[in-house]
Amino acid sequence: MVELKTPGELQAMREAGRVVARALQAVAGHAAPGVPVAELDELAATVIREAGAEPAFLGYRPSFAPTPYPAVICVSVNDAIVHGIPGRDRLRDGDLLSVDCGAYLDGWAGDSAFSITVGTPRPADQALIDTTRRALEAGIAAAAPGNRLGDIGHAIHTVAAGDGCADAVAGDFGGHGIGRRMHEDPPVPNRGRPGRGLPLRPGMTLAIEPMLTPGRGQYRVDADGWTLRTADGARAAHAEHTVAVTDDGPLVLTAP
Ligand code: MF3
Ligand code: CO
Repeated sequence: MVELKTPGELQAMREAGRVVARALQAVAGHAAPGVPVAELDELAATVIREAGAEPAFLGYRPSFAPTPYPAVICVSVNDAIVHGIPGRDRLRDGDLLSVDCGAYLDGWAGDSAFSITVGTPRPADQALIDTTRRALEAGIAAAAPGNRLGDIGHAIHTVAAGDGCADAVAGDFGGHGIGRRMHEDPPVPNRGRPGRGLPLRPGMTLAIEPMLTPGRGQYRVDADGWTLRTADGARAAHAEHTVAVTDDGPLVLTAP
């Protein structure tokens, strides 16, 4: 069932989204060659807890996962697409870094992700990151009353395909409704048919999250049961915002 949030509830979700944005900004500011990935996780945890919020990923176990998630953020480097578990490694010059973060504040969830280059960017990575951001922005722009769910996926796919990029997770993962729980109905696929699917109504809150690769879009799962990696070793980028459908158009709840 798709729950519609009241304007007051959207304000509460905005505050949760602000905490996630702050945690991600702190992580982005700290990312540099030589930095231990574990420090990024600790930093996000500190920002979230100092805001009086709770990490949403830590201990979370979706149906596809073999174990509860063991960290506060997902850190997916280079050919890792999403759900990378922060380990003992350090960031290296030229890494394509994707960070995903979720938090609960006063019972409401926020979920957001970004990709950046660490140190010296490879031009192809910058292009991929830029395409992924524009795909997210197109998806967000389509999250307006009068449109349907398929319009969001269509907008994302059109930008991706126009730049020669594929859905890195082959349709097996995508965006989702979000509210009191991080994952709610409806699923928000990263491709769709325009004018088809659930009509978008004011009060709907959606996490929109393209995951793109210039490769073929086939992936495999690491032995940890979490980390999704491109099958061909190509790099992948991820961008995500929690967005509300309102009478005034899309409202990005995880904007800084
Ligand atoms: N943005 C990710 C998603 O919606 C967050 C899940 S990570 C998890 O799939 F660890 F919490 F599962
Ligand atoms: Co999400």
